Order: sequence, then C-alpha cells, then structure tokens
Amino acid sequence: MSRHYAVFGHPVSHSLSPRIHAAFGKQAGIAIEYSAIDVEPSGFDAALQDFAARGGAGANVTLPLKEAAYALCSDTTERARRAGAVNTLIRNGDAWHGDNTDGVGLVRDLTERQGLDLRARRTLLLGAGGAARGVAPALLDAGIGDLFIVNRTPARADALADMLGQPGRVHVRYLDDLRNLGEFDLVLNATTAARDGGSFPTLPRSLLGRRSAAVSLSYGEAAIPFLAWARAQGAHESIDGLGMLVEQAAESFARWHGTRPDTDRIYGELRAESARLVTAD
Ligand code: ATR
Repeated sequence: MSRHYAVFGHPVSHSLSPRIHAAFGKQAGIAIEYSAIDVEPSGFDAALQDFAARGGAGANVTLPLKEAAYALCSDTTERARRAGAVNTLIRNGDAWHGDNTDGVGLVRDLTERQGLDLRARRTLLLGAGGAARGVAPALLDAGIGDLFIVNRTPARADALADMLGQPGRVHVRYLDDLRNLGEFDLVLNATTAARDGGSFPTLPRSLLGRRSAAVSLSYGEAAIPFLAWARAQGAHESIDGLGMLVEQAAESFARWHGTRPDTDRIYGELRAESARLVTAD
C-alpha cells in the first residue's frame, strides 16, 4: 500500500521535494505518494489535521511554517529543540513527532560533497529566521570557530544566540557593524531577501577573502545575487543550497522509511538542470 507524505509551505509549488522523494522511493523500492500542499500559517494546523485524517504518515515543512510546526508537535528531537524549528514531521499514533534535518543536511553537503573542513572557521551567519535556526546548532557541532549572527531585526539574532547558549563563541552584531568585523572563513546567507524580492543591504567587500567560502541556503534564482556578489569578491567557494536540500531530504527519508538513500544521482540530475536554467537566463 502506498503511504502518504507531503511538503507543506507557502509558496510551495516550486518545491523539488516531491521529485527528490519520488526518486528515493524508486531507488529503495518503496511505493510512496508525496505531494506539495500550499498553506498559509493561519491554516496550517487544520491542513495538517486533514492530512493526518487522510492517512498522512509524514511531512516536510518549509517556509514560512517551520517554527509553527515546532509548536504543533507533541514531542521533538533534541536537534529540533535546539533549532526551535521543525522541517520533518513523523506521525506517531495520534500525534506528530518533530525533527529538524536541515543542519545535518547542510553539514553533510559542505563536508562530504563540497569537501570543506569546517573546523575552526570564523563564521558569519546572515539571518535569524527558521532556516538560520535550523543550521546554527549543527555548524557549532561541526566545530566551526566563532559564530557571528547578523539580522535585520536584531531581537531575532539575540533570541537565536540565547538559544544557542555559547556566549564566548556566539556573537550578535548589527547590520551597521558588518564593515568593522573583518574577514570570515565562512559566510552563510540564511535570509530570504532575494526570494522576497527585497534587496539585501549592501555587504562590504571586507567580509570575504581569497580563502573564504560563501554559502547560500537557497537554490535557483534566489541564490544568485548573493553568490554572484561572493564570486565578484573572489571567494574561494560559492555554494548554493541544492546539496543541502537533497541531503536534508535523505535524512527525512531515513527517519520515515528506515533506510538512507544514495543522494548522488538525484543531486547530479538537479545540478545539471539548474546549470541549464542559469545559463538560459
Ligand atoms: P526562514 O525560515 O527561511 O529563515 P523567515 O523565518 O521568514 O524564513 O526568516 C527570513 C530571514 O530573512 C530573516 O532573518 C529576515 O530578517 P528579519 O528577521 O529582520 O525579518 C531575513 N530577511 C528577509 N528579507 C530581508 C531583507 N530584505 N533584508 C534583510 N533581511 C531580510
């Protein structure tokens, strides 16, 4: 019998998750039905109940619902609690169990696929929303050096730093301070500025040097402005979020089905298509 899975978000029609999970299911010989469900935050609770009533066994959650999903779970993994955000729901009896696979997905992509050694890297995290919260704990666990968090709304950066709870290692700075912070070994863009059609405040060149890696948690067109800026500054690596997307999906798949899929093939397919999209523009 086919089991029901879905990704909830708003908007979500562009999501690659249905395709990635279909490929994983085929590879593992597991019949799964995985759809994309567009729902605004105000309707999320009801939509999730409806999904469960129709036999929903698990779901991914994307923007802007990850913090709402965390609040709806009756229990969560430690990594979800540390993030205060859930991207993976698992039906457990009458309740939802919540996990967050974003951080492990990002770290796996950066270390195993991109070959980066994250240890002791002086790191700048731009943004303090659900995506930033999802990846910050895993970056600290992966051994980065000092972590600086900068967000348009400083109170959210403060809240993230408080949650991470490593005052000597995690620092909050204002956007206006960026030009005084010097060079970083790793700069991650976890904001939705490009996707929302807004323009991110101009970033100073001094943030990136020739050994720096720049990472966008977005992929496709939303990743282009930040990564183009990073390349223009001569960053050593400029990496989009496509690999993280595939790796977090594999981790969710493993939670639901008890088997870890191989990610190289679907990553290769999506990477080739994304290269064609960028070239065609
Ligand atoms: P996500 O779950 O992807 O993190 P989110 O929780 O809505 O989505 O967070 C979006 C992030 O992008 C936030 O850090 C947001 O800054 P605020 O906390 O100040 O809202 C940031 N962001 C969005 N548009 C931006 C813009 N035009 N300039 C700077 N930061 C922006």
